[in-house]
Amino acid sequence: APLTPPDLTKCHKAIDSDATPPEVDCCPPDYGKAKMVDFTPPSPKDPLRVRKAAHKYNLDDIAKFEAAIAKMKALPTNHPWNYYQQATIHCTYCNGAFDQLNTKTLLQVHGSWFFLPWHRYYLYFWEKILGKLIGDDTFAIPFWNWDAPKGMYMPPMYLNEKSPLFDKTRDKRHYKSVLDYSYSMGADNPPDPKPVVTNNLEMLSSMFKETSNAPALFMGKPLRAGEDPTSTTAPGSCEMLHNVMHQWVGPPTSPYWNMGNFHTAARDTIFFAHHGNVDRMWDIYNNSRGQRREFNDPDWLDSSFIFYDENEQLVNCKVRDCLTPQSLGYIYHPEPIPWTNNRR
Ligand code: C2O
Repeated sequence: APLTPPDLTKCHKAIDSDATPPEVDCCPPDYGKAKMVDFTPPSPKDPLRVRKAAHKYNLDDIAKFEAAIAKMKALPTNHPWNYYQQATIHCTYCNGAFDQLNTKTLLQVHGSWFFLPWHRYYLYFWEKILGKLIGDDTFAIPFWNWDAPKGMYMPPMYLNEKSPLFDKTRDKRHYKSVLDYSYSMGADNPPDPKPVVTNNLEMLSSMFKETSNAPALFMGKPLRAGEDPTSTTAPGSCEMLHNVMHQWVGPPTSPYWNMGNFHTAARDTIFFAHHGNVDRMWDIYNNSRGQRREFNDPDWLDSSFIFYDENEQLVNCKVRDCLTPQSLGYIYHPEPIPWTNNRR
């Protein structure tokens, strides 16, 4: 059966093994009292939001993005749009603050075919809320274009210490070094960026090639209502690759705040740029298959997640309503895809 929203009155402590004590509070504000409605996708007549590559942001783009983030950070701490509350949503659904409805089984959106759709919605609402805060309904968030050689660095705007985009928990050794898809936790910077870039492109290329006819390998394997996500975890190759960027941005040693850990990852604004590109990878994958649905299984299509939308309304969002960025009123500004001819 499809996954349904949990009983909102039954939020409990979540677990983060990096935290002391490991029981952490990730319950959203006032969920128990909020009334839920079904999500309505934006109308095709609404203005299109165009997400651009972070490393190509000009000063105006940066100023606008920073202004929106600063406003989100300045909201009262228990407001559902508050920056910290928005970051906590990731903990809520990733560290098990809820059980699946009528079960003792944790609700977890990683490690299965829910990984890409859940994060797509998460970014969608984050973007809409930011746009609302600055009164701009064309506002779009940046993506970290880590699949292009020039984008294989932390985008510079995140490195300005005075910016609300800055996060001091990151691995300082990586501020200026090339992102290595084969990075293993704590490893030194590679002496020469060139082979790293080549290896990255080859990895992407083979990832797409190997999964092209097997969506579960790219997206993650099925998880159905009642199944235990901790014992049946089966992430797709897209999620596995995405984990590398989390570890590479986060600190090299324990405790792994912020990006290095589910509970805290979204406190770092770069999280949303990273996931922008993860989401874009899904879009590229979907287009490469002629926009065919990855799964026709109603257990996927009718599964749903809840979010607070840009009107502070609690909405129930089905996977079937987020299958393309266009259906949610945004697109990715086209960037060259340098790895499509880079087959191993
Ligand atoms: Cu919810 Cu990058 O993980």
